[in-house]
Amino acid sequence: MAPAPTPAPSPAGTRSGHWSTSAVVYQVYPRSFRDLDGDGMGDLAGITAELGQLAELGVDAVWLSPFYSSPQRDGGYDVSDYCQVDPLFGTLDDFDQLVGRATQLKLRIIIDLVPNHCSSDHSLFQLALAEAPGSPARDMFIFRDGRGEGGALPPNNWQSHFGGPAWTRTADASGAPGQWYLHLFDSTQPDFNWDNPLVHQEFERILRFWLDRGVDGFRVDVAHALVKAPGLPDWGGTAWGGSIDGFPGHEAPMFGQPALHDIYRRWRGILAEYGPEKILCAEANVDPLDRMARWVAPGQMHHAFNFPYLNAPFSALALRSVVDASLAAFGAVGATSTWVLSNHDVVRHATRFAYEGAGPRQGDGIGAGDEQPNVEAGRQRAAAASLFMLGLPGAAYLYQGEELGLPDHTTLPDASRQDPTFARTERARLGRDGCRVPLPWREAGASFGFSDGVPAAGVPWLPQPEAWGRLARDVQSADPDSHLATYRSALGIRRDRGLGTGTLTWVDEHCSDTTVGFLNGSTLVLLNAGPSPIELPTGAILQRSRPRQAASRQLESGETIWLAA
Ligand code: NOJ
Repeated sequence: MAPAPTPAPSPAGTRSGHWSTSAVVYQVYPRSFRDLDGDGMGDLAGITAELGQLAELGVDAVWLSPFYSSPQRDGGYDVSDYCQVDPLFGTLDDFDQLVGRATQLKLRIIIDLVPNHCSSDHSLFQLALAEAPGSPARDMFIFRDGRGEGGALPPNNWQSHFGGPAWTRTADASGAPGQWYLHLFDSTQPDFNWDNPLVHQEFERILRFWLDRGVDGFRVDVAHALVKAPGLPDWGGTAWGGSIDGFPGHEAPMFGQPALHDIYRRWRGILAEYGPEKILCAEANVDPLDRMARWVAPGQMHHAFNFPYLNAPFSALALRSVVDASLAAFGAVGATSTWVLSNHDVVRHATRFAYEGAGPRQGDGIGAGDEQPNVEAGRQRAAAASLFMLGLPGAAYLYQGEELGLPDHTTLPDASRQDPTFARTERARLGRDGCRVPLPWREAGASFGFSDGVPAAGVPWLPQPEAWGRLARDVQSADPDSHLATYRSALGIRRDRGLGTGTLTWVDEHCSDTTVGFLNGSTLVLLNAGPSPIELPTGAILQRSRPRQAASRQLESGETIWLAA
């Protein structure tokens, strides 16, 4: 029987034709990608050396998490100089070489902009501390007198995302307590005051600095938080953002303030001066989706990370519902929908989907004392979820290592943990180190080829699980049925069949409580999230998430297939 299509909400008005509408963007977390100088920490030269592998994988763009000067209290999201490369990662010349190599390979480079806060080591914050309350230097940040007797209490009740109060009290040179400053994240990450035009000027300078060096765009960190509500009122809701809850930004005085959107319109104008191809991507973790879509309204950003999609469980009903909501919300403002399953802040999807039911709270991490994942089930479901995602029209974000099916390190020793969340919550939340472990490149050799450069092999900044040798890229490159081979093949088919620019139509016959199927042009994408195998419909097999099943006409539990319809 021919499938009875149910049209999904129309992505009418999607900015078609622009490369970003269907792009596959690969996130590199520089600390953990590839270490060429052998100090145990990834570096820009290591990224340049391996860019060919990413071109071969078939991605369109690479997003680099921060590599700027930083004391590294939050993995580089604490920037002390926005226009310098941290010596840990190399030099500006190394960056230029990276861009040059990317250009040769036709890969675009997107860098991370961190405008909500800087490092407390930044010269502007050091100046603010040195100057008196009420001075122009202090007005670059959010300093306030405390409440209560002697100003001993924080100015309001806001909490840091990483745990504890969002305010830290200063002391003058003699040690006498002074004003408090706001930090939505760690106390070493003071928030800028975006009510001050000089802050705007500073970031416009930074945008131009990197655009002049040839970058193709920016991923904007906490793009929903720069502007705070006047008067910084107390707020009764949870102000920290475990991403499984979404950042509950509906009414929060630190999220989603209207003046934000003027900033992004202005930045979009600056990008346009460098040509129509430059893009902005929002990390705007607000819900629901139609509120998030304001960040990609005409004249603002090109992409917003789809956190509701990332937070969806491995469930046919949940996936269908979040895809519908995404296409409707982003389509309504003429934007492309993005899709994402993993990043450097969440438990990798190969581990999330290794648990039945809700799984671990994202951002909290998993430790040796927790229930351990069913690794094999997680890998299979991860491949199925990825193949489902890559079949969707729109833009997709991949996180380094997911093409290898890497899980989180779920037994990291506490002594290795570096995420500030761990200390700030007094170990209640383990933090995000488990998803940031250095990549395995080669089965043989120290650190699985991550850190085997000149002059010596280094000790990786986080230990790798022993089992990662068999997941190394060289092992998978030699295996036509590997996770890596599946990604490579799927990305090729996605490009050849125009899936990124296609249109989704649900196929009722294949949509149930446990299965979900849609047509994207002449490709049928079918996921079996249920407990039992199902019979495949007719059609030539283009790709399956368990390639070892070869020509089987059964779709296993936890498997996705692409068929020629
Ligand atoms: C979001 C980044 O993805 C995360 O890693 C960082 O800790 C916070 N923003 C603060 O910059």
